[in-house]
Amino acid sequence: MGMKVLVVGGGGREHAIATALSRTGDVTINSVMAKRNPGISRIAKEILIHRETDVPRVLDFARKTGSDYAVIGPEAPLETGIVDALEGAGIACTGPSRAAARLETDKGFCREMMDRHGIAGCPRYRVCHSVEEAISFMDEYGGDLAIKPIGLTGGKGVRIMGEQVDYDGAVDYIRKIDGHVVLEERLVGEEFTLQAFADGKNLVPMPLVQDHKRAFEGDTGPNTGGMGSYSMPDHMLPFVTTEDYEKALTIMKSVLGVMKRDGHPYKGILYGQFMNTAEGPKVIEFNARFGDPEAMNVLTLLSSDFTDIVTGISEGTLSSARVRFSPAATVCKYIVPKGYPDTPNAGDPISLGEMPGSVILYYANVEERQGQLVTLTSRTLAFVGIGRTLAEAEKTAETAASSVTGNVRHRRDIGTEKLLAQRCDHMKALR
Ligand code: AMP
Ligand code: GLY
Repeated sequence: MGMKVLVVGGGGREHAIATALSRTGDVTINSVMAKRNPGISRIAKEILIHRETDVPRVLDFARKTGSDYAVIGPEAPLETGIVDALEGAGIACTGPSRAAARLETDKGFCREMMDRHGIAGCPRYRVCHSVEEAISFMDEYGGDLAIKPIGLTGGKGVRIMGEQVDYDGAVDYIRKIDGHVVLEERLVGEEFTLQAFADGKNLVPMPLVQDHKRAFEGDTGPNTGGMGSYSMPDHMLPFVTTEDYEKALTIMKSVLGVMKRDGHPYKGILYGQFMNTAEGPKVIEFNARFGDPEAMNVLTLLSSDFTDIVTGISEGTLSSARVRFSPAATVCKYIVPKGYPDTPNAGDPISLGEMPGSVILYYANVEERQGQLVTLTSRTLAFVGIGRTLAEAEKTAETAASSVTGNVRHRRDIGTEKLLAQRCDHMKALR
């Protein structure tokens, strides 16, 4: 009898997770999600529509469905200790314990851990708990800072001085969140994402990806959950040297080692978001899960058996020999409701046009009402193009995304050669 896997979460990332798991013939997928994701609905056998952070309900559903394994998509259930509860009931998980998930859920914990153990790539920072303390660090530091609320914000709570706010704006923002902030040196460079499978002691990296946080073309407008992302056929990025890459990987391995030594072994997906600066990669943050949209790039490329990898994660037998990715480029473009993220218009019908045969569609925050797709307030649909070259992958994703009709938009520039050349020029100018 095959595995029964409970996938927790109902976004585009979880549709990609469920799709990758279902490529194995002998596996049954069950799902708990707050909203009925049309893509996951088609894959899953049993479905519970319910808040994913309600640990007792999720545990009860896992037991009832006989799930022997769980893959946790989003961070919120990790923070409520879903893995501790499921493992306590004998259900193996891909996802860290509540204590290990603090790498993401408590930004102060993360910086202090890096600092205490002398892990490279930690920017100058201060964890503050009052407005006075925060302002006095701002004055002492003198330069531009990144201002981050301590807890989870869905990637939208950060304000960068010199970019989104000036000194006075920074002070207003700090007052608004009562001084509970991590202040960090503003890092300048090019961002990249390094995701890895981790089993507590072994770490196996996935292809590098670059996400696009800003809402509009040319990296303008407010921060979003991520408008789209791309990866290259060699699984590297042209503005990241082999040396930069090795440094980033070493940082991730050091974190894994420290978490184990400190009694909170980290297993699941470790997501490293780096800023490649003139001095090499610095850590913007760690996440305790796949990135969304970065999961779409890497899971689409994964050519080895995902159920075998998740088993390796829970059994502590992960090895790079068991993990393979196709040597292709990917471009993921999200379509989002007009007005997203600040004033998204929900409830609009959308229709897919003529799709290129090779495009992969992941459903995200979208509902199906009597066969009609209808937008909700967050990211709607993700289109992934795969190609021998970036240009080929981009064309596929762009053709698919622009064929959608309705009150939605997307970023046309993601994955284009032009934008990539700008990234490379920026990096060259810094070095
Ligand atoms: P986060 O919620 O930590 O992912 O941050 C959201 C965005 O803010 C990141 O994608 C970066 O573009 C930016 N950011 C965060 N921390 C810093 C930093 N220390 N320096 C410059 N930019 C940052
Ligand atoms: N793509 C950024 C994130 O998932 O946090």
